[in-house]
Amino acid sequence: MKKTLAFLPLLLLLIAFKPAERPATPPEIPADVQVLLDKHGCAACHSMTRKLVGPLWTDIAAKKYSAKRIAQLVAKPEPSNWPGYVPMAAQKVPKADMDKIANWLANLKP
Ligand code: HEC
Repeated sequence: MKKTLAFLPLLLLLIAFKPAERPATPPEIPADVQVLLDKHGCAACHSMTRKLVGPLWTDIAAKKYSAKRIAQLVAKPEPSNWPGYVPMAAQKVPKADMDKIANWLANLKP
């Protein structure tokens, strides 16, 4: 019993430090949204963890666009919003799919 108790402070220490050891995990992309990002090629240029050709999803989310505005910008990009990036070509995405992507992105916590 005494021996077991001796481990208690160690255990508490481990628990206390566990979150700090873990790197900040980026939010997960819901599976149904991921399917659309793959299907429409968005995932080739945008990611949650690495800056690719386009900005991170979380960096876009930080701009606090409405879903409607996101759909507009995807259909008619405004490259001046992203200095230092190559301009994104206009993306043709069926409305239902675009609404789903835009709603996800508009509610994504940066
Ligand atoms: C060939 C690479 C490429 C692909 C494919 C691509 N993007 Fe982009 N995207 C970019 C780049 C580069 C930027 C930043 C420059 C710009 O907005 O023109 C960007 C910017 C954006 C923005 C921010 C617009 C703004 O004005 O702030 C959104 C939203 C976005 N992309 C969504 C999408 C979605 C959704 C898809 C898939 C349908 C997609 N992108 C496909 C490269 C890409």
